[in-house]
Amino acid sequence: MTDTLTIRRPDDWHLHFRDGDIMRGVVPYTARQFGRAIVMPNLTPPVTTSALAAAYRERILAAVPEGVSFTPLMTCYLTDTTDADDLVRGAATGVFTAAKLYPANATTNSAAGVSDVERIYPVLARMEAEGIVLCVHGEVTDHDIDVFDREAEFIERHLRAIVNAFPALKVVFEHITTADAVAFVESASENVAATITPQHLHINRNAMLVGGIQPHNYCLPVAKRETHRLALRNAATSGSAKFFLGTDSAPHLRSAKENACGCAGIFNAPFALESYLTVFDQEEALDAFEGFASIHGPAFYGLPVNEDAITLERGSVIVPESLELVGEEIVPFHAGQTLGWRMAG
Ligand code: DOR
Ligand code: ZN
Repeated sequence: MTDTLTIRRPDDWHLHFRDGDIMRGVVPYTARQFGRAIVMPNLTPPVTTSALAAAYRERILAAVPEGVSFTPLMTCYLTDTTDADDLVRGAATGVFTAAKLYPANATTNSAAGVSDVERIYPVLARMEAEGIVLCVHGEVTDHDIDVFDREAEFIERHLRAIVNAFPALKVVFEHITTADAVAFVESASENVAATITPQHLHINRNAMLVGGIQPHNYCLPVAKRETHRLALRNAATSGSAKFFLGTDSAPHLRSAKENACGCAGIFNAPFALESYLTVFDQEEALDAFEGFASIHGPAFYGLPVNEDAITLERGSVIVPESLELVGEEIVPFHAGQTLGWRMAG
């Protein structure tokens, strides 16, 4: 049995840091494990320009602990009125690594998102020409569409059209939750890939709704039924370069989660690698872990893999019931559970 695993340092290709004190509190968790992270722009106000992104990047860098090497990769929040020239300039100067499409009102802080995807087709054309990656929150927002069907519906209504209209555009279908999304990505061109979160590999919708409502297992897109979880586990552990790690770690304080209108988001940053590796171990796919965590993401983004390595070892780690953040409590994913792998050293 393999008891240690040494791999190139992984990156997180989808992450929420927030801003201010919360950001300063959560950055060290991610910087402990990952070399880089694609940082989501859904702040209030959202990160819509290269100037806002450059300033946000500086605030994040100031929160990285001494002696730790970590690079935040910034994204541009697309709106109906995105300035394509600023986006292209920001990408050319290394401020932007990607741009993020939130359908308006799809999730946390997305009210300023895109009201109709076709409105940003001119921006997508520029991105295609300039080689700027598009990250997509793939859910429709129509009130008549069941929340469990919103991802599959987004594929049929919008994503097929986008990849047909812009075949050279690099598209990351983020935090996929369905077998439909797996099939779509597998059948699409090499310019289409997907990230998968730890929670969607571990839980199905029962974890959210059985035995009383479980707000700490609520995120968007919501976990689906078991068949979908199994399809995601197959995709993640398959070795396919189209699937890679993106935690979607999304910190919300306990008070905002245990609430009559609880926020969407699972805070998985503190034990993200331990969580993913537990899945790869259960699937007897430890040899596929380095590709998923450290190789496929940089390859898709056209970036080098990290130079340094990390070692994970078999051994139990107890996830705390809660952690302190800004003088309050935050409940991490797997709270109170014991995971079978830990970071060595
Ligand atoms: O669960 C989620 N939380 N999904 C998202 O798309 C956004 C995120 C957040 O920002 O809290
Ligand atoms: Zn997210």
